[in-house]
Amino acid sequence: MNFDLVAPYYDRLAALVFGPAIKRCQTDVFIEMIPEGKVLILGGGTGWIIPYFRFDKIQKLTYVESSFNMLKLAKEKNSNISPAVIHFIHGSEKSIPNEKYDCIISNFVMDCFSEKRLEKIMILLRSHLNDGGRWYCSEFKQNPISYRTFWQRYIVQSLMRFFFKITTRLESDSLYDFDLYFLQNDLKEIYSKDYCGGFIVTKVWQ
Ligand SMILES: C[S@@+](CC[C@H](N)C(=O)[O-])C[C@H]1O[C@@H](n2cnc3c(N)ncnc32)[C@H](O)[C@@H]1O
Repeated sequence: MNFDLVAPYYDRLAALVFGPAIKRCQTDVFIEMIPEGKVLILGGGTGWIIPYFRFDKIQKLTYVESSFNMLKLAKEKNSNISPAVIHFIHGSEKSIPNEKYDCIISNFVMDCFSEKRLEKIMILLRSHLNDGGRWYCSEFKQNPISYRTFWQRYIVQSLMRFFFKITTRLESDSLYDFDLYFLQNDLKEIYSKDYCGGFIVTKVWQ
C-alpha cells in the first residue's frame, strides 16, 4: 500500500467527495477535547491537521507516516514548528518509538488494513496508550439503513475505494466495525459525533 502517487491530490480529492466534513470531523473534537501531553499520529497524511493543535498544550507530537511524499508535504507545510516539538517519522506502526502517549490519533488509516493486520495494529497502538490516555479516531462507517445506505455505499465503493485500490492498493475490501476493536482493547467511548449523515464518525476512546 503506497499513498505516494496520490499525495499531491489527496486532500483536494477527499474534499471534492466529502466536502468540508472530511476535515471538520477531525478537528471539531479538538474544541471539546484538546490533545495534550505526548501525542502520536499514525497515518496523518499531508499534515494539514498539524496547525489545529494547541502547541502550548503539547509536550511532543510524534508523526508517523508511511508515504514518503505525504510526509514530505507534512514537513514542508509545518516547517515553522520546532523539531523539538514535532518528530516526523517515515515508517509504519513498527517505527513508533518505544514510548507511551497521552493521545493517539488514527484518522482514516485503520480502514486501509486487512482484518488480520488491523487486529495487530489495534493491540500495538493500545500498548502505546497511557492509562487514562485518549485515542481519537475518525473513520467511514456503513450505516445499514434505507436509502442512505445505497448512496453511502455507492460513494465509498465507486469513488474512494476504486480510486485508492488502483492507486495505492489498499489491503482491505470492506469497512469495519471499529467499535468492536476498541472495546476488545478495553477502551471506553467518551465522545462520538456523526458527519455526512452518519457516513463518517469521529470517536474518542479512553
Ligand atoms: C486515507 S489517508 C488519510 C490521511 C489523513 N489521516 C487524513 O485524514 O487526511 C491514510 C494515510 O495513512 C498512511 N498510512 C497507511 N498505512 C500506514 C502505516 N502502516 N503506518 C503509517 N502510515 C500509514 C498513508 O500513507 C496515508 O497518508
